[in-house]
Amino acid sequence: MPLFTNIEDMRRVYQRKTPRMFYDYTESGSWTEQTFRENTSDFSRLRLRQRVAVDMSNRSTATQMIGEDVSMPIALAPVGMTGMQCADGEIKAARAAEAFGVPFTLSTMSICSIEDVAEHTTKPFWFQVYTLKDDDFMRRLFDRARAAGCSAIVVTVDLQVLGQRHKDLKNGLSAPPKLTPKSIANMATKVAWGLGMLGTKRRFFGNIVGHASGVTDPSSLSSWTAEAFDISLDWARIAKFKEMWGGKMIIKGILDAEDARMAAKVGADAIIVSNHGGRQLDGALSSIRMLPSILDAVGDQVEVHLDSGIRSGQDVLKALALGAKGTYIGRAFIYGLGAQGQAGVTRALEILHKELDVTMALCGERNVRDLGPHNLIQPHGFGDPQVAL
Ligand SMILES: Cc1cc2nc3c(=O)[nH]c(=O)nc-3n(C[C@H](O)[C@H](O)[C@H](O)COP(=O)(O)O)c2cc1C
Repeated sequence: MPLFTNIEDMRRVYQRKTPRMFYDYTESGSWTEQTFRENTSDFSRLRLRQRVAVDMSNRSTATQMIGEDVSMPIALAPVGMTGMQCADGEIKAARAAEAFGVPFTLSTMSICSIEDVAEHTTKPFWFQVYTLKDDDFMRRLFDRARAAGCSAIVVTVDLQVLGQRHKDLKNGLSAPPKLTPKSIANMATKVAWGLGMLGTKRRFFGNIVGHASGVTDPSSLSSWTAEAFDISLDWARIAKFKEMWGGKMIIKGILDAEDARMAAKVGADAIIVSNHGGRQLDGALSSIRMLPSILDAVGDQVEVHLDSGIRSGQDVLKALALGAKGTYIGRAFIYGLGAQGQAGVTRALEILHKELDVTMALCGERNVRDLGPHNLIQPHGFGDPQVAL
């Protein structure tokens, strides 16, 4: 059993164990991948202020996100096709999150269905929806999420059109994977992955196939997705989703102060400052750099969360010190899942927790709620979206 001491260790094992098309699907950004790279590198521009001889006993990372208790403010982000990274991946990740006391967000484009995840967990999870044209289908999704006991929906607003990732096109990404001589040759070397997949029935998009009209089998899915996304989305429609759902709504994919104001206006309970992990608009600034201007605009009106680029507990601390009330990890938990299944997701959470906790201590803080700009040393212009650093 390898000793994982950081998230990067897990990425390397995940890469070894996972078919290339699914590893590449995770580990890429759109076009030149500039935004994907800067999401992580910009965290290292922020430095930490060391303090000594302060009482570091009885530390706590516990707080709340949208009024729900969390053992640390790190949720699992919605990740499509998680069940292709590892058999029954969504169920495994949800169970690990539940045991750790952090929120799990299920993607619309998951392999395990809403009902499946609900059946295998005991606490409410969050459900992510894309903004689709078909009202009936949206209503049915909300009904299913309600019946499954989901406590919030996460509406992803940064995907009206799809960013292009070159590798996905070249690899012919699909679920289940298309069998070509190249993909078969590659999958044949991923024995544990293959055995897992042979042992599960969950190999299709569980929330879509058999639920969206006209999608009865996986082959009709691709034409459905091309048609389904609402290219004419506007704020009135987002407000309508809040009304249709009737519960807590988190708006995901905000990267601009103007949009943040609109999100607050339509009654979001929280927004996620996010560029979709660098998978949509290449050339956009990193989430961590956009966070300060968004907090200035709406920090007193709506809870502000952040994702994109988090690979360590130190990154989490930096986002919280700038003012975010919660964070999400996408790739960091997928690495753990692909490396070691449910235990790997637990290990990823343990690593992040330890890094957050020890960094808090060395910064002279005992409570995650007390973190603030006083813990950081920032380069000039870091939080100014008009300045290219
Ligand atoms: C493989 C992969 C699939 C994703 N699928 C979805 C999705 O279905 N819905 C969604 O809202 N975001 C999706 N995202 C974006 C994540 O929710 C999150 O914003 C992003 O991963 C954060 O960046 P990080 O991976 O650097 O932590 C996906 C991200 C990855 C890496």
